[in-house]
Amino acid sequence: MQYNFDQIINRKNTNSMKWDKNNQLFGRDDLIDLWVADMDFPCPEPVIKAIKERAEYPLYGYSFPPDSLYEAIVERLDRNYGWKIKKEWIVFTAGVVNGLYAAVAAFTRSGDEVVVQPPVYYPFYNAIKDNGCQILYNRLAFDGERYTMNFNNLEELFKPVTTFPVRVPRVKMLILCSPHNPIGRVWSTEELAVLGEICINNNCMLVSDEIHCELLVGDVKHTVTSTISRELEQQTITFMSASKTFNLAGLATSFAVIPNDHWRREYIKARAGHNSGNPFGYIALEAAFRSGDEYLRQLLSYLRANVSFFTDYIKNKIPGLKVVKSEGTYLAWVDMRNLGLNTLELQDFMRSKARLALDDGYAFGPGGEGFQRFNLACPRSVLQQALERLEQAVGEL
Ligand SMILES: Cc1ncc(COP(=O)(O)O)c(C=O)c1O
Repeated sequence: MQYNFDQIINRKNTNSMKWDKNNQLFGRDDLIDLWVADMDFPCPEPVIKAIKERAEYPLYGYSFPPDSLYEAIVERLDRNYGWKIKKEWIVFTAGVVNGLYAAVAAFTRSGDEVVVQPPVYYPFYNAIKDNGCQILYNRLAFDGERYTMNFNNLEELFKPVTTFPVRVPRVKMLILCSPHNPIGRVWSTEELAVLGEICINNNCMLVSDEIHCELLVGDVKHTVTSTISRELEQQTITFMSASKTFNLAGLATSFAVIPNDHWRREYIKARAGHNSGNPFGYIALEAAFRSGDEYLRQLLSYLRANVSFFTDYIKNKIPGLKVVKSEGTYLAWVDMRNLGLNTLELQDFMRSKARLALDDGYAFGPGGEGFQRFNLACPRSVLQQALERLEQAVGEL
């Protein structure tokens, strides 16, 4: 089937988090919404068909994931990443953020430290703080073009400090974003190997959020962190989902892969009570993994063209801004520091002058100040309209 991603589907008045919260979240209603990470595109046809068929059956009682779903996941991870997992390693969660919260709750005690690498997806911070833990920042390095991980600084975080101010490290976990939202890096096998070694050497659990793993817009390949070595596989909990790739976020169905038997038992124990999932979520996930590849092929081609369109437009017409080259995700990270606005001025400028609903860079933590995150998963005409607003607003500054 040929998908038409240029088609504009009205999302207003559909209880859309992205389009129906403008007044409440941004203080006005005339904005173009390019913020929260879901797509303004239809879902894959095989998913819609499978959900319709299930919906026709008039009973939506407690449900469990069928064997065929486990098999679909096992097969996909092997086929796409050469990752051979056992069915028993899979634990379903009601969304990745839900699963992350449970991981922090299960494996830390109040006061423990959890490392994140900002600027990074901000719910990581909530999952840490809300569980009574401390956030440790290992800021990504940025040379003006490209972000990299700061391994020297990371190693320092595990070392005690004996001079004033004394510090006794309590680092239990590192939450990795791979590919990295919002900066769009797809971490290389080499980078992941170094990171993994540091975690192993310091007995630090690596929680790898790989929700964007299929959304590759650059000429890169995604390496599943756990495939680096058997040892690292035992040290890592991986979170995945079909929700970003196939636009199924509202179905709140995702999964963790936990090869370490002891950790898996602990995790399941900590989630006691979460023993039934959304039947439509299971059906959609399986249909997407089994029959969604043609959709994904067309989607990636459209997204890549959107990335080029967006990048070229800014380069040619709004030269004060700079788009950071992205390898993965459908998000664009734009450096606006040249505008000379402080954090709140930039936020206000985007809302009241450019009339765009975006994610403010500072929300992603240290290093995000002066940046804005754009969601490019929308029809190109919408993107064009948004860029025209931005161009005009910057021109009037
Ligand atoms: C890195 C990352 N993890 C998790 C999520 C949210 O996942 P879920 O909706 O399954 O909780 C997002 C959504 O933007 C994300 O970018």
